[in-house]
Amino acid sequence: MYRSPLNTLPAWQVLQTLAPAYRTLRIADLFTNDPERGSKFSFDVCGTVQLDISRQAVDNTILQALLELAQQSNLAEGIKQFFAGEKINFTEQRSVSHILARHYAPSVSDLASKDDAYDLQQKMFLFAKRLHTGRLVGATGKPLKTVVNIGIGGSDLGPRLLVEAVMAGQRPLVTMRFVANIDPTELAEALLDLNPEETLFILSSKSFTTQETLTNAQTARLWLAEGLSASGGQTTETILNKHFVAVTQNSEAAKAWGIHTDNIFALPASVGGRFSVWSGVGLPAILAIGEDNFRAFLAGGAAIDKHFSETPFAHNLPVLMALLTLWNTQFLSIESLAILPYAYGLRSFPTYLQQLEMESNGKSVSYEGKPVAWHTAQIVWGLTGTNGQHAFHQLLYQGTRRCALDFIVPNMGQDAAAQALRINAKAQAQALMAGRSLEQAKVLLHQKGNSDEEADKLAPHYMIAGNQPSNTLTLAHIGSDKRWGAGELGQLVALYEHKTFVLGWLWGINSFDQFGVELGKQMAREMAYEQALT
Ligand code: F6P
Repeated sequence: MYRSPLNTLPAWQVLQTLAPAYRTLRIADLFTNDPERGSKFSFDVCGTVQLDISRQAVDNTILQALLELAQQSNLAEGIKQFFAGEKINFTEQRSVSHILARHYAPSVSDLASKDDAYDLQQKMFLFAKRLHTGRLVGATGKPLKTVVNIGIGGSDLGPRLLVEAVMAGQRPLVTMRFVANIDPTELAEALLDLNPEETLFILSSKSFTTQETLTNAQTARLWLAEGLSASGGQTTETILNKHFVAVTQNSEAAKAWGIHTDNIFALPASVGGRFSVWSGVGLPAILAIGEDNFRAFLAGGAAIDKHFSETPFAHNLPVLMALLTLWNTQFLSIESLAILPYAYGLRSFPTYLQQLEMESNGKSVSYEGKPVAWHTAQIVWGLTGTNGQHAFHQLLYQGTRRCALDFIVPNMGQDAAAQALRINAKAQAQALMAGRSLEQAKVLLHQKGNSDEEADKLAPHYMIAGNQPSNTLTLAHIGSDKRWGAGELGQLVALYEHKTFVLGWLWGINSFDQFGVELGKQMAREMAYEQALT
C-alpha cells in the first residue's frame, strides 16, 4: 500500500517547473500551432464514448509528465489491488466491491462469495417481474402500481439519475417517486395523487439509521394506516409486509422497524452508498426501467471496468480525466468543475457527481495519517445545457475565475432539437475557450456603427477572456439508431467513478470513507435527542 507522497515524485517537480508558463498560455494558440490537435487529443472506448481533451491547457510535454506522474505513483498497483478485492478502503479495512455487481472480479474478500452479488441481483429481478405482472398485491389485494423510494444521498441519487436518464420523455414501467428531504412537504407532494392500496415504499438506507429516511418512513406508515382505514383497516403487520421493502446493510434494524425478512434486499458492507446504484439501491430503477435496461447499464459499467483495468494510461479515459483534474487544480489553481450535460435526462448528473467526487475525495489526510500538501477534490457543480447558458455562463465568459468544464453530449438522434443540443455544446466549448480579444471587440463595435472613441470606451466590456479549459465527452450507441441509452449511461457513471478512484490514489487519500459527513449526521441525532429530553 505504501506510496511515495505525490510531491516527492520526480514528475511532480517537472510539472512544477513547467506550470508557470502554462498558467498564462492561451489554449486557442495551441490550435493555431497544431491544426490536427482536435483529433490528436481525442480518445474513445468501445466506439461509444469519446473524450476530447484538446481544449485543456496541455500539450504533449505536460501530458507526458502527467502520465509519468501516474506511473511513478504506482497507480498500476492501485488498480490491481482494487480489482483484486484488496482492502483499499484502508480506514475501514474493507474491500470496495461495487464493480462486482457488474463485473465479477475473481476474488473480493469482503463478500462471502461472488454469489452474494448474483443472488441479490436475482432477487431484485424476480421482485420486478412479480410487480410488473401484477402478482405483488397490497393489503387490500389490489396490485401494487406505484413505487415511492425513500432514501437520501447514495440511496437516492443513483436510481433517480438512472430512471430520469433512461426514461426521459417516456412513461416508466411503474409510477415512480423519489423522496429524500426530511422536509415533509416533499413526501406530501409525492403522495398527493397516489392510492395507498396500490403504493409500495422502498426504504433505502445502507445504515438504516439516517434521520431523513426514518422520519419519512414513519410518515409513510401513518399515511398507509390512515389511507387503508376506509377499506376496513388493516393490521400493522399486513401493512408493513405488503407495502414496505428495505434495501440495507443493517438487516437487524430494518427487521426491528417492521420489515419482513423476505422483503429485505441486503447490501454488502463493501458497496459504498455513493456506488450502490449498481447493487441493491438500483431496485427502484429496475422497477421503473426494467431488467433489460438495468442489465445494459451494468454491462456499460463492465465495459469501462475492462477499459480501465487493461488500457495503457496514455489512452485510458478515467486516468486521463483524473490527470487533467490534478493539473487544473494543483498547477493552474482552478478550483471548480462545472458539469454541463446537454440532455434533459441527465439533469441529476451534476448532483450525482457532487456526491461521487466531493464525498469521495473531499479529504485532507493521507493514508499515513498526515495532512496532504496539495489540493484535493474540486468543487463540482453544474446544470443541463442549454439552461446553464442562460444562468451562469456569463461568469464563465467574463468573471474573474477560471473554471474547468465537462461538456457531456449524448447523441440523441438526428432531429433538429438533438442537433441544436450538440451544436450548442460545441459552440459553448469553443467560445469559452477562444473568447474575444480587445481588437476583435473593437472591430465588432465598429461594425455595430460605433465611432472610434465609443469603440475604445466600450471594447473592454465586450472583451471576453475565455480560456476556460474543457473536456467534451460524447456518448453514442453503436446500434442502428445511434442514440444513447442505459448502456452508455453505465459507461458514463463508471468513467467518473474510476476517475475519482485514480485521483484518490494520486492524492494518497481514502476515497471510500466519509467520516466528515457522518459527524454531521451524528450531531443532528444528538441534538434531536437532547431536545426530546427538554
Ligand atoms: O451523506 C452521508 C451518507 O452517509 C452518504 O454516504 C450516504 O449515501 C447517505 O448518507 C445515506 O446513507 P444511508 O444509505 O445509510 O441512509
